[in-house]
Amino acid sequence: MDVIHSVTELRARLYDERQVALVPTMGNLHDGHINLIQLAKPRAACLVASIFVNRLQFGPGEDFARYPRTLAADCARLAQAGCNVVFAPDEEEVYPEPQEYTVDPSSIQNILEGAFRPGHFRGVATVVLKLFNMVQPQIAIFGKKDYQQYLVLREMVKQLAMPIEIIPAETVRAPDGLALSSRNRYLNHMERVEAIALYHHISQIRQALQRGQRDFAALESEAVNALDARGWQTDYIAIRRQSDLLEPDAHARALVVVAAARLGTTRLIDNLEVDLS
Ligand code: PAF
Repeated sequence: MDVIHSVTELRARLYDERQVALVPTMGNLHDGHINLIQLAKPRAACLVASIFVNRLQFGPGEDFARYPRTLAADCARLAQAGCNVVFAPDEEEVYPEPQEYTVDPSSIQNILEGAFRPGHFRGVATVVLKLFNMVQPQIAIFGKKDYQQYLVLREMVKQLAMPIEIIPAETVRAPDGLALSSRNRYLNHMERVEAIALYHHISQIRQALQRGQRDFAALESEAVNALDARGWQTDYIAIRRQSDLLEPDAHARALVVVAAARLGTTRLIDNLEVDLS
């Protein structure tokens, strides 16, 4: 496996590759990332994982500075998983000058995560476009754990006619159901035990929807109140359409329950798709 830090070296390495798959990451890899690698591996002759903690997608007061950076351990895991190239540029390589040209996703960037993290999806879309231009993959894999991010990037590729197939990957969970995330590292022992409540409440909403309950607002506020009563600060729990995360009408069939809440200083997100067809 080659570990490459510059775009020039990357282009030379990939020059002859006909089918390249990219798994973009911010490092601190866990089994969820390895699942993305395993999904990508059989689909391309050359598998590239990028590792870059993208300052542009963090708001003021967010965890950019303390985001765990574990390059050596990440490379060991990627080599074992069969990755061919790790592209780990530094900030100067990705942003050699102030990034004045950016990608502004559609109105989806202002709802849910976007409402609580203004500018986040502009930062994500901009760096992913740059990574796409640097790596020039035919395939890119994104986890559905970041459901809104996946939709933003799927639409970016569609609307800008980029010749890249976006493949979504299912969320990987710990045995108790907690969605794997690099931010789970911030949880202390007590918080880790409590963290499962987020999954528990969105699972309850899914069950209620499957039983035919259609009072979305009541289901959402019941779950928010229950989490807040346990000491969480809930940003949102919302039942939305899978296709665009807009509010569904009572007949919608392809739904997703999305949630974000803070436990202590850690902000967790999760979601569950609900197919009622
Ligand atoms: O999902 C992530 O880890 C990041 O948002 C991404 C897609 C690598 C862009 O920085």
